[in-house]
Amino acid sequence: MNKPWKVALIGAGNAGEAIISGLLKSNVYTSKDIQVAEINDDRRKYISQTYQVTCFKNSRDILSFSDIVIIAVKPINIMQVLQDINSFVKTRKVVLSIVAGIPIAFIKKHLSQVFPIIRGMPNLACSVGEAMITITPAENVIEHELKIATDVLELLGQVMILEEKYLNLATALNGSGPAYIFLIIEALADAGVRVGLPKDISIMLAAQTTLGAAKMVVDTGEHPAKLKDKVATPGGTTVEGLLKLEDGKLRAVIISAVTEATQKARALIPT
Ligand SMILES: NC(=O)c1ccc[n+]([C@@H]2O[C@H](COP(=O)([O-])OP(=O)(O)OC[C@H]3O[C@@H](n4cnc5c(N)ncnc54)[C@H](OP(=O)(O)O)[C@@H]3O)[C@@H](O)[C@H]2O)c1
Repeated sequence: MNKPWKVALIGAGNAGEAIISGLLKSNVYTSKDIQVAEINDDRRKYISQTYQVTCFKNSRDILSFSDIVIIAVKPINIMQVLQDINSFVKTRKVVLSIVAGIPIAFIKKHLSQVFPIIRGMPNLACSVGEAMITITPAENVIEHELKIATDVLELLGQVMILEEKYLNLATALNGSGPAYIFLIIEALADAGVRVGLPKDISIMLAAQTTLGAAKMVVDTGEHPAKLKDKVATPGGTTVEGLLKLEDGKLRAVIISAVTEATQKARALIPT
């Protein structure tokens, strides 16, 4: 990317802030390349003060500025945003929705013009450039338009193009996933405290261990079970711990959590 594509972000809550912060940390973007529409007064003030980006209350004020519009509001608020885009965008412009559970067909149905729509699911790790971002382009998205979106998103993490039928499933895995991992890190840190480690040391040990294990899976491409076996020395400490995790049905509980989250994603379309 020679110069950054101008980004108009609608909704600067947790997800929107992660995108702003990740783009600015990439050193490709400056605050002048991003404009934000945020309806919540306190939030707008916080975002403009923290990131020095121009913030408006209404999305109509930022739509003409951008090469790409990113919608990051809750599902219940998407209709208002689509109405604004309908009314105020007069040229063909990439619309990337990261709204959970909202299919491309729903967005198309409520946009009167033929916009190139991309549905995506990032996660909070956009803020540190390590997100897993799954996307589906609508069939009318041309190569150049997909490139605009991937140029932006690749600054925030790994991008994977998937068929739309997988997007609700990905929402439950890579969208919600950081929350599950945070809980596991917290539990590991609590365990460290239980056996006598100071809390701050325990959190650091748990977090860096999680990071290292994830990096090994990504970098080696090895099956996690194979890597697990390399840690579990026969007759050693790890296998005792693994037995307890299996006793507690950790694997089954995680599978149920992602299954529940998938069902919720499927039920999010506003009526
Ligand atoms: N959080 C995540 O980790 C994550 C990850 C991937 C995808 N997502 C998706 O991203 C979307 C936002 O999630 P979130 O967690 O960031 O929610 P959030 O923290 O509630 O942020 C949404 C923000 O958008 C504002 N808003 C509502 N209507 C608006 C409008 N018409 N124009 C401008 N701003 C408007 C909201 O204001 P009010 O609070 O006053 O309504 C709120 O500040 C959701 O659809 C979610 O599924 C989230």
